[in-house]
Amino acid sequence: MTLSPKNAQQSLIQMTELVLPNDTNTFGNLMGGRLMYWMDIAAALSCMKHCAAPVVTASVDNISFENPIKLGNVVHIEAQVTRAFNTSMEVHMKVWGEDPVQQYRYKSNEAFMTFVALDPNGNSRPVPAVIAETEEEKKLFEGALRRRQLRLILSGRMKPADAAELRALFMEA
Ligand SMILES: CC(C)(COP(=O)(O)OP(=O)(O)OC[C@H]1O[C@@H](n2cnc3c(N)ncnc32)[C@H](O)[C@@H]1OP(=O)(O)O)[C@@H](O)C(=O)NCCC(=O)NCCS
Repeated sequence: MTLSPKNAQQSLIQMTELVLPNDTNTFGNLMGGRLMYWMDIAAALSCMKHCAAPVVTASVDNISFENPIKLGNVVHIEAQVTRAFNTSMEVHMKVWGEDPVQQYRYKSNEAFMTFVALDPNGNSRPVPAVIAETEEEKKLFEGALRRRQLRLILSGRMKPADAAELRALFMEA
């Protein structure tokens, strides 16, 4: 069965949360684990929107926290699928904090996660391809192949010798 490709934009999820006392560490900032929990949900919703099937988190790439998000501030997470492979999808997230009183936004972090679509028996199932339209979407789509190769090498699922696009990047540098 061939699945019809879908525009990347169709998978956009925008999540908004308020940082409450139970979400914070002893410095009054949002805990990294709570943010990752929200990001995991936003990313899963984006992937489900893309493939119209249940999904599981296969991997989470490196996440760096650039700026702490304060108690009482708002968290905005945007998640969108960058590229689909066979049964897996890469999703990109951007995270901002917002001071709702002073009304300014600040960048917190960006991250990539990979999800796999499952059929009713819990086996991985094919997902539709992604059509990248904007310049940003095209850049993310192109880089997704190299990022996939890196994470498959790190998880022992691919030999470095087979990662042609990733190797080419290092040869260019
Ligand atoms: C992710 C999972 C479904 C992969 O199952 P599997 O039997 O290894 O399946 P396959 O080898 O057929 O791989 C399926 C897809 O997952 C991708 N994949 C597997 N491990 C991956 C990893 N570490 N990083 C990125 N992609 C990965 C494969 O590349 C493949 O993608 P493709 O079909 O697009 O080429 C399985 O390992 C699983 O269920 N993990 C637990 C998921 C979970 O519970 N997550 C919540 C956190 S605990």
